[in-house]
This record gives sequence, C-alpha cells and structure tokens, in this order.
Amino acid sequence: MSFTVAIDGPAASGKGTLSKAVAAHFGFAHLDTGLLYRAVGREVLDGAEPVEAARELRKETLERDDLRTAEVAEAASKVAAIAQVREALVDFQRAFARRSGGAVLDGRDIGTVICPEAEVKLFVTASDEVRAERRFLELEAKGFQTTRAEVLADLRERDARDSARATAPLKPAEDAVKLDTTEMSIDQAVTRAVAVIEERLGGRE
Ligand code: C5P
Repeated sequence: MSFTVAIDGPAASGKGTLSKAVAAHFGFAHLDTGLLYRAVGREVLDGAEPVEAARELRKETLERDDLRTAEVAEAASKVAAIAQVREALVDFQRAFARRSGGAVLDGRDIGTVICPEAEVKLFVTASDEVRAERRFLELEAKGFQTTRAEVLADLRERDARDSARATAPLKPAEDAVKLDTTEMSIDQAVTRAVAVIEERLGGRE
C-alpha cells in the first residue's frame, strides 16, 4: 500500500522533528526534502552550476555532515527559487512518496506541488520568535557562534524568499490541517499529528 503524509511549513517550525516522530510511529519511510536543496546549495557554494548540480545530485553530497549550517540554508533557499532546479528534483520525491509501506515527506511544497494527492497534509507553523529560539538552541548545541537576533533575521529573510518565489512558494495547501506549535511541546504536536493520520488510515480500511 502507498500512503503519503505531506508535512510543510517554514524554517524551524518543528516539521523535521515531527516528521521523524510520525514516520517512526507508523513505520513509514521519511524524506527531508530540504536536504535535497541544501545539497544543491552546498555544491553551488563549491562552484557548481545550480541546474546541473540538481540534475546530477550526488549521494555523497547528500551524506555530507555540513549541510545544516546557516550558510548552506541560505544557498539552498536561493537555488530553490530556480524553476529548473525544482523540476530536476520532482521525480525522485514523487517516487519516494508512492513507495509501498507509507512515506512522510517534509518541505515547503509537498502538499501543493509534489504530492497534491497526499492522503494527509499538515502545515506546521510557530511564531517567528519561538522558531528562532529553537533554531538558536540547536545551533548553539552544535557549537556554532551566533545570536538570537541573527538567527531571527536569517529565518525571516529565508521565509520571505521562500514565500515570495514564483515557483512552488511556501504556502499551505487548501486542504492542509494547520498545526501551530508555538505553545506545544514536541510530544503534544506528535500526538496531534498521529491522531490526524490515524483518522485517515482508519477511513481507508
Ligand atoms: O527545510 P530546510 O530548512 O532544510 O530547507 C532549506 C531550504 O530549501 C528552504 O529554505 C527552501 O528554500 C528550500 N526547500 C524548498 N522546498 C522544499 C524543501 C526545502 O524550496 N520542499
């Protein structure tokens, strides 16, 4: 059986943590699609041409351990605005979504462009300040030198670029269930997402 859960939302909304947790709960495969754009961004920082990098995305690049930096996030958001870059990554994501056994994909355009037919669509948000605080603590724990103000400014800049682009902008699908995690713990958000998915799974039996 194929069953797709699309989880979209802005940077540091908690969608990554949530996606991993619901994938583990249901035994579904998980794809962090942001990593694809980060890998292309990384290659562009290293001198590659963006569309070529996306068309020939290498497994070694996806496995690099330096894709989570602010520099790569910014480069990812820039290459993600190029229509041919997005186009080059579509087939891989759609094939992943329809694999048998169930799949969770998180990103910005999963429910709107990649999998408009997804059985479940969630759009995860949180206030700018809470997202910045979460990302700041994450970066600090990894030993990066930064400030809350800098992280907040970076997030806002990236969200503005992701929301304003012409191709596949960040926005909720019309039929997405919105999940505002500003005042939720991870456990509460997971419980809510699991309930939404269980309801859809139950309806198919
Ligand atoms: O989710 P993450 O922060 O890793 O994504 C990095 C960047 O990749 C985003 O800011 C966005 O520009 C881009 N992206 C996208 N579409 C997706 C996933 C990520 O445009 N489905």
